[in-house]
Amino acid sequence: MVVLIEQSELTRPQAEENNDDLVLDGGFSLLKSPSHVGFTVPDINSYGHSFRNYYDESERNKSVEELYRQQHTNQTYEFAKKMREEYGKLNKVEVGIWECCEMLDKIVDASDPDLEESQIQHALQTAEAARNDYPNEDWLHLTALIHDLGKVLLLPSFGGLPQWAVVGDSFPLGCAFHEANTHFKYFKDNPDSNNPAYNTKKGIYDEGCGLDNVMMSWGHDEYMYLVTKGNNTTLPSEALFIIRYHSFHPLYQTGAYKHLYSEEDVKNLKWLEIFQ
Ligand SMILES: [Fe+2]
Ligand SMILES: [Fe+2]
Repeated sequence: MVVLIEQSELTRPQAEENNDDLVLDGGFSLLKSPSHVGFTVPDINSYGHSFRNYYDESERNKSVEELYRQQHTNQTYEFAKKMREEYGKLNKVEVGIWECCEMLDKIVDASDPDLEESQIQHALQTAEAARNDYPNEDWLHLTALIHDLGKVLLLPSFGGLPQWAVVGDSFPLGCAFHEANTHFKYFKDNPDSNNPAYNTKKGIYDEGCGLDNVMMSWGHDEYMYLVTKGNNTTLPSEALFIIRYHSFHPLYQTGAYKHLYSEEDVKNLKWLEIFQ
């Protein structure tokens, strides 16, 4: 995807000093513990919705759980690397932001147990909530508007990827899966769980290497991150952090994977928490 936007200099985030805080190539056949780094997750988000509950027994949640089973089984380091290489070429479609929002409205996010609004409503409501709460942070409003645009990966023109390769939570690959991940039990059938190079706490990474250097599972977050970077965005690093990690729930709910953080990640985490 190539994004057509006017390249204006967006204002830098004003952090308060004392705030605590690919086209499938035929090769594919197919918790909640909320406290860390001084942050407590509230019961409802800023739009008045409760946070996702993946663990009740409704039919809806059973199909969501099946999606997580497929995702956790199929998202390997090699898979994500291949998708990054393919989609990093940004040669699928050239489309403007609003047109992309409209395209997004045709899709359903099968991972979401409780969001009844359409994708376009979600984009606009998130952006308006950001504008309401942080009127001076214009970069945050735009980030909110575009954060889910990568879900166009579900559309045929973007490769028509299966839901498990687009939505659901994201998580690091190349190191052991942390039990704070939603439906952790399904990682047992992921080949990486039995790969000694990838199944230790540090895996292939050095302590404090920074999340930028970590291979994340493939999905809409990672794709939009590649799109924004590949289009030489003027959005600040905090925005890219939100775009890349907004489905990485253990990151801001439990502080798991802390050993991978850089100093910049710790600073950016505050904005991700605000965004959620
Ligand atoms: Fe998302
Ligand atoms: Fe979203």
